[in-house]
Amino acid sequence: MDLSSGELSAALGPLRRARSMPADVYTSEEFYKIEQDYIFLKQWFFLCREDQLPNAGDYRASTTPGGPVLMVRGEDRQLRCFANYCRHRGSLLLEGEGNCGKRIMCPYHAWSYFSDGRLYGCPAMEDAEGFDRTENGLVPLRLDSWSGFVFANFDRSAKPLIEHLGDLPARLGSHHLERMRCTWKKTFETSCNWKLILENAMETYHTGIVHKNTVGAQQQRSFETQGDWLCMQVISGTSIATLPGVPPLFPSIATLDEDAKQGTYFTVVLPTCQFAVAQDTMWWLNVTPLAHDRSVLEVGGCFPEEVTEWADFEVRAKPYYERWEAVAREDIGILEKQQIALTSKLFKPGPLSVRDDMVQKIGQWVIEKLRTSQDTRI
Ligand code: FES
Ligand SMILES: [Fe+2]
Repeated sequence: MDLSSGELSAALGPLRRARSMPADVYTSEEFYKIEQDYIFLKQWFFLCREDQLPNAGDYRASTTPGGPVLMVRGEDRQLRCFANYCRHRGSLLLEGEGNCGKRIMCPYHAWSYFSDGRLYGCPAMEDAEGFDRTENGLVPLRLDSWSGFVFANFDRSAKPLIEHLGDLPARLGSHHLERMRCTWKKTFETSCNWKLILENAMETYHTGIVHKNTVGAQQQRSFETQGDWLCMQVISGTSIATLPGVPPLFPSIATLDEDAKQGTYFTVVLPTCQFAVAQDTMWWLNVTPLAHDRSVLEVGGCFPEEVTEWADFEVRAKPYYERWEAVAREDIGILEKQQIALTSKLFKPGPLSVRDDMVQKIGQWVIEKLRTSQDTRI
């Protein structure tokens, strides 16, 4: 892999002299495989909101860089996450989302599992020698949540989610995200590297150009953070979750602190999730890497529970949904152009602007994680 140390040090050095990352970071299959081993299979990744699975038996299947997983709420109301494969000969157990009742039934030979993962039924296994039903339950992943946001981790020795989040709960505390409900989500297939989506989501340098017909130019301020997350704020006295010219249709959250009143926080919960938190709502961008040049982007929207109960909630929320979708499509459009261009054999990293500070921080975090792995391929 051509990740010459000169190019990497130019990307990691002081911002005013820094250059963008070498193209291989976005275009190399080998680099993607290293990220899979040392980032995707080691770090917490966002799955959904707790309130998207309110009832016993509710399930949701997801694709992850570590393979298919399923989340299911048990009879004991606990939410659990398992590798989504049958312990017999490996069929996918569940797809999409729904309610499985008290059991998950394999569609191949009808083995069935309790919603807490234990094996229940396994026809024609009486004569199998050494077969122990208790050793053939679903394979669990670590699951943890903060303020209703559910994360999972393939690495059983990873630090707890709350340590990963550092001072994020303090920064976002006055929004009381735990009182929100998810009311909307939309999924986009994209032909670009996962990092391009998050880098783009953390700078306003492009907004006056790429989003000239939607959100337009914006100004941001950056915050220092502790933990595995990044934070900047787009300055605006009112919510920017609707398009300019459409005043916010919901009141500001009453408990906001002075910083939170100044605008919309854009964060990256490293590695693959953004929370955008405005005065009246929050939305997430959740990126699922599928290959070096392919990712799925899910955008989800949440509002404080009390406003979701208003009779005209859906009418008022529609301009927010339209704005989130329009901006996501504009971003994907430019990112797919960038992915193509990064494959140029003549590509050389370009100089960063001071407005690319968060872009640089994302790359720095990734390289630091890979370097501490001490893998000789890097
Ligand atoms: S693969 Fe599931 S029952 Fe055979
Ligand atoms: Fe954008």
